[in-house]
Amino acid sequence: MYFNGTAQVNEKGHLQIGGVDTLDLVSQFGTPLYVYDVALIRERARGFKETFDKLGVKAQVAYASKAFSTIAMVQLVEEEGLSLDVVSAGELYTALAADFPVERIHFHGNNKSREELEMALDKGIGCIVVDNLYELQLLERVCGEKNQKANILLRVTPGIEAHTHDYILTGQEDSKFGFDLQNGQAEAALQNALNSQAFEVLGIHCHIGSQIFETTGFILAAQKIFEKLNDWKQRLSFEPAVLNLGGGFGIRYTNEDEPIAASQYVEDIITEVKNLAQHYDMKMPEIWIEPGRSLVGDAGTTLYKIGSRKEVPDVRKYLAVDGGMSDNIRPALYQAKYEAVLAGRPLEKANEVVSIAGKCCESGDMLIWDLPLPESDDNDVLAVFCTGAYGYSMANNYNRLPRPPVVFVENGEAQLVVRRETLDDLIRLDLSIQTKIKN
Ligand code: LLP
Repeated sequence: MYFNGTAQVNEKGHLQIGGVDTLDLVSQFGTPLYVYDVALIRERARGFKETFDKLGVKAQVAYASKAFSTIAMVQLVEEEGLSLDVVSAGELYTALAADFPVERIHFHGNNKSREELEMALDKGIGCIVVDNLYELQLLERVCGEKNQKANILLRVTPGIEAHTHDYILTGQEDSKFGFDLQNGQAEAALQNALNSQAFEVLGIHCHIGSQIFETTGFILAAQKIFEKLNDWKQRLSFEPAVLNLGGGFGIRYTNEDEPIAASQYVEDIITEVKNLAQHYDMKMPEIWIEPGRSLVGDAGTTLYKIGSRKEVPDVRKYLAVDGGMSDNIRPALYQAKYEAVLAGRPLEKANEVVSIAGKCCESGDMLIWDLPLPESDDNDVLAVFCTGAYGYSMANNYNRLPRPPVVFVENGEAQLVVRRETLDDLIRLDLSIQTKIKN
């Protein structure tokens, strides 16, 4: 079995994370429960930063908070000195509630509303990543009304799409995000932005995909961008201060995944960008990246209580847990795979193969297919690993299931950072119908 971070088996033979027995966590906080290994998040954050420092490159590592956004997580990001990527008023509000330094917040999104842009400007946001022409014009108007200037990056689609292991090179990128680099859109946007009083154009952004296991895609993207930058330098006298290459660094969910180390991604990317800058005789831009999954993914574990068992003779054994697609929609949505153990006896030899079902009324609500496990019953707790990214943040109340709480564990201590939703929480937005309408 592969244990991440501080996860290990303690003297009682139980799974322990952050020095805390997971069965004690279950007694204290109930199930389902999201548990985060804080030391591992810190290690990942420092890994990125130290690699940039070692290479002597000016950089910002912006945590993509869509992967897991809560006040405590944002505070942790601040403690580690990272920047923050937000994509909505909600994520921005969370960051502000956590007192995150607003000048280190970058605002993303392909359809930011006027209200969101106003909020960002009013709060003094560090940078807005402009996605499209509509937004560029809207932001220019809002800046004009407020007599403010916005720091912007232009998001471009370089014509490379990463599908985990392979890359599609498309001349005309079919994506809802960003200005197309090849068909002139990006250049037109840049010209508009440079001609406007409303903007300080810091540079260029691109993000080629998620759960990527190689550096080829990042390198191809950098090459395509530099070809254009060279052109823009000659014709528009524009050289970017910043090149943001997005996130997407892959992590190990199961033994089918073979990610490279975060430092390797950074080293390969920097080497290429340095070469390109030298080749085109341009100054080395500050490099920004936006890891989400690779900062928090393997630091998260979800604990469930095992409940009902159903056997379809000669076909399959279903074991149901007290959560499912409501707290982890990734298996249903992306056929994502996970590994899991019994928290009370993680090293015990498996003697059956079971499929882990969620409790939602939907056949597709399966968390893990064909998992080898020791025989278990409803006294057992199942620990599903690597649920730290896009688990809580994509959680929902389907079937009116309350969302689980989140606990941070570190140095033998557990801290509740999101409380469990109650049944009252579930109806807090509901209003009764008016049976009598007065006229
Ligand atoms: N930057 C931008 C502009 C992005 O769109 C994303 C992710 C990231 C950074 C962070 O990517 P990461 O390092 O986490 O791969 N819900 C899906 C993932 C969607 C990713 C969307 N954008 C999942 O659960 O796999």
